[in-house]
Amino acid sequence: MQTQILEACPEQLQILVECLRSGEVIAMPTETVYGLAGHAFDDQAVARIFAVKERPSFDPLIVHLADRQWNLERLVAAELIVREAIPEALQAPLEALMRAFWPGPLTLVLPKAERVPDLVSSGLATVALRVPAHPVAQALLRESFPLAAPSANRFGRISPTSAAAVLAELSGRIPYILEGGPCEIGLESTVLGLEGESLTLLRPGGLSPEAIEAELGQPLLRPAVHPAEVLAPGMLKSHYAPEHRLLLFEEPTGAAEAELSALSQRWPVLPNLPPEAQALILLAEPTTTLAQELKSAGLAYWALSERGDLNEIARQLFAVLRQADQSGAELILAECPQPGPGLRHAIRDRLRKAAGL
Ligand code: TXA
Ligand code: MG
Repeated sequence: MQTQILEACPEQLQILVECLRSGEVIAMPTETVYGLAGHAFDDQAVARIFAVKERPSFDPLIVHLADRQWNLERLVAAELIVREAIPEALQAPLEALMRAFWPGPLTLVLPKAERVPDLVSSGLATVALRVPAHPVAQALLRESFPLAAPSANRFGRISPTSAAAVLAELSGRIPYILEGGPCEIGLESTVLGLEGESLTLLRPGGLSPEAIEAELGQPLLRPAVHPAEVLAPGMLKSHYAPEHRLLLFEEPTGAAEAELSALSQRWPVLPNLPPEAQALILLAEPTTTLAQELKSAGLAYWALSERGDLNEIARQLFAVLRQADQSGAELILAECPQPGPGLRHAIRDRLRKAAGL
């Protein structure tokens, strides 16, 4: 099968809708990462997603919805969820989150209606729902039906944030990739689930927990390690992994100038490996002295953001990991942000998973 890249014009969108209707799967852009999409109510299409991605069937999918004024009643009417199993006390907060953050990088895991195939939810009684904000994803969803879509990478590998990255992952396995440019957010959505009468953070992602908590007016549960790891396989160890070895070092906290310019102290550069076999990923552009030092040591490096802006770091992270992985280096050294607010939690989570920690 030859994989073709299509543009979001009406004729080509129609080709994609027909293709999806027939039970085939395609890649589509979202504001977080590219997804591998199939008809969410079609068992055969959903099975195809798992096969193409080589994803184990215990890892449930997110169902993507067209942008409407969603609330619980409409989700029930669309045969996606059942309302009875949602605690009364959580109904208003859930609807407030939908109003505030849909469309956007927030996924809500709710009690599933019968029409949603068991394969979508890996046999769980819940289904994950999200409304992507990308205009091209929205154009496709408006013309079609709910689309089940995991990230469009082969299982366990780095999520794609451009059509070219999808092609590198899935060329020859799917007929079409819908072009949507580079992903604006660059990290997968934040996943929230219900736990008793509370909302719990199942996976940190492109929407910061603080923004959600500000909307809710109360803290989210944040399990250190979720008791049922299979419920959030983003928690599985070898996720988002490059092919080459990845070592992390912690972002220095208020490092002294002396330390900043002492290369060997700051990075675990391996003396027995030639510098050209090592790639370095920094959060921010290094100081001139440091850049000089890196240059004379012969190390290739990437700075994720000139000024260490977290949104920009998130946007660049997967693309740069991919580049470093293909740079010919045997070892990738990456600076890991300290825990903290905003996207720090999610960036740290992805880097640690990529390093197998
Ligand atoms: O931003 C995103 O979320 C991207 C784009 C394509 O929308 N999608 C994505 O899908 O990251 P995937 O399959 O790579 O990750 C889905 C996450 C997994 O961590 C999965 O465990 C969780 O959502 N999930 C899905 N259904 C669930 C359920 N019923 N209960 C608990 N977690 C669920
Ligand atoms: Mg994924």
